[in-house]
Amino acid sequence: MNEDLQDLAERFSQIADQYDEKHTSETKPIYNACASLVIEQADPHPDDVVLDLGTGTGLIALALAENAGHVVGRDISDGMIAQAQSKATDNGLENVEFGYGEFCDPHFDGDVDIVVSNFALHHLPDEKKREAIGAIGTLGPRRFVLGDAMFFGSADPEEPLFDHGINVATVGMLVDVLTDEGFTITAAERVHDQVGVLIAEHRDEKPSADH
Ligand SMILES: C[S@@+](CC[C@H](N)C(=O)[O-])C[C@H]1O[C@@H](n2cnc3c(N)ncnc32)[C@H](O)[C@@H]1O
Repeated sequence: MNEDLQDLAERFSQIADQYDEKHTSETKPIYNACASLVIEQADPHPDDVVLDLGTGTGLIALALAENAGHVVGRDISDGMIAQAQSKATDNGLENVEFGYGEFCDPHFDGDVDIVVSNFALHHLPDEKKREAIGAIGTLGPRRFVLGDAMFFGSADPEEPLFDHGINVATVGMLVDVLTDEGFTITAAERVHDQVGVLIAEHRDEKPSADH
């Protein structure tokens, strides 16, 4: 892990035990609307393997574990991973695993049917977002659901929702990169002018008997 990533991971580890409390629907309605859409649009089959990148405390991964075959949550922050793991254990969920992994190197060798990510890709600068989406494409999922900060209008809004240091991309840039990396966008759901969910289907989906 490079130094910047290590610093970011450390910052998340320091707030890991307060993260869920600070992200309730009352305090963060936009974040929660986005998370709900990601969960709904992922829509896994009972035998699907789902990879959640930047899983944090596992909000998306744990919700999807109720319907998916197996869920793999990956994150760079030990503290966030520990919170996610402890919730999985408390809820007796045995089809979900959490561990270290980066967008560009998820540390998972198995087949993946669906990749999801919520409010995490914005931590990467645009060139790295392209690399990350390329790496996701090579995993060959049939679907990638990306919820995140993204500009639907001007790339330089008068009232930015997010602090400096967050690398918000435009929807156009994300759509172009996803298309270049083998995905077709089937929907772009706007949660707010600066937040949305992109649903992308892979053009070279691996053949499967029952999907
Ligand atoms: C705002 S949190 C979102 C967590 C979770 N997806 C959610 O919706 O609650 C962002 C997460 O992305 C992780 N993250 C940041 N950069 C990452 C990278 N390059 N690879 C994997 N995870 C990363 C952070 O450690 C943090 O847990």
